[in-house]
Amino acid sequence: MYKMSEKPLIRADEIRERVATLAREIVDVYDYDILLSALTGAYMFTADLNREMAKAQGAKAYNKAIAFIKASSYGNSTTSSGKLQVRGLEKIDLKGKKVLMVDDIADTGTTLLGLVNLLKESGAQEVRTCVLLNKQERREVEILADFVGFEIANEFVVGYGLDYAENYRSLPEIWTLQETD
Ligand code: IMP
Ligand code: MG
Repeated sequence: MYKMSEKPLIRADEIRERVATLAREIVDVYDYDILLSALTGAYMFTADLNREMAKAQGAKAYNKAIAFIKASSYGNSTTSSGKLQVRGLEKIDLKGKKVLMVDDIADTGTTLLGLVNLLKESGAQEVRTCVLLNKQERREVEILADFVGFEIANEFVVGYGLDYAENYRSLPEIWTLQETD
């Protein structure tokens, strides 16, 4: 059994403020062509980040595309080689494009690394990655996200898009789930 922490790990106003800053950090250095977002976990972060980037970009935002893919990783808890399944990429033309890949969290890093490799194989000219949360301590493959919202400890978190068995996604804050007996 699991229970939620008594207080949020990251409050909604802290998320809002960081996302706005992160959006400016990204558009200051990366004139991407297409924002690619991984469903489902990144949906709330993507909408907020995209809106803040558009505010920071002005007219430059008009010709930037946005697209969604579905990434699921069939990790085996006993080995580090999670198998990544990606759906929806075949409909998106990435040839010669500069991609900003957005995901909710980098944990072992398997998903993010797999996505970057796949996007490059699909002809992307450049791929930079952005995650709301980074659990560096849990990394099993070598990948550093280019843009990170918050560094967090090795804890399981939910809310702001992130789920535990499809629950908790709509919470506006990020909470820690703790194991109970
Ligand atoms: P990775 O491939 O191990 O980096 O895992 C990435 C995926 O695992 C994320 O896109 C999430 O869907 C899921 N995940 C990892 N850690 C958490 C967490 O603390 N809460 C919710 N989902 C998580
Ligand atoms: Mg996910």
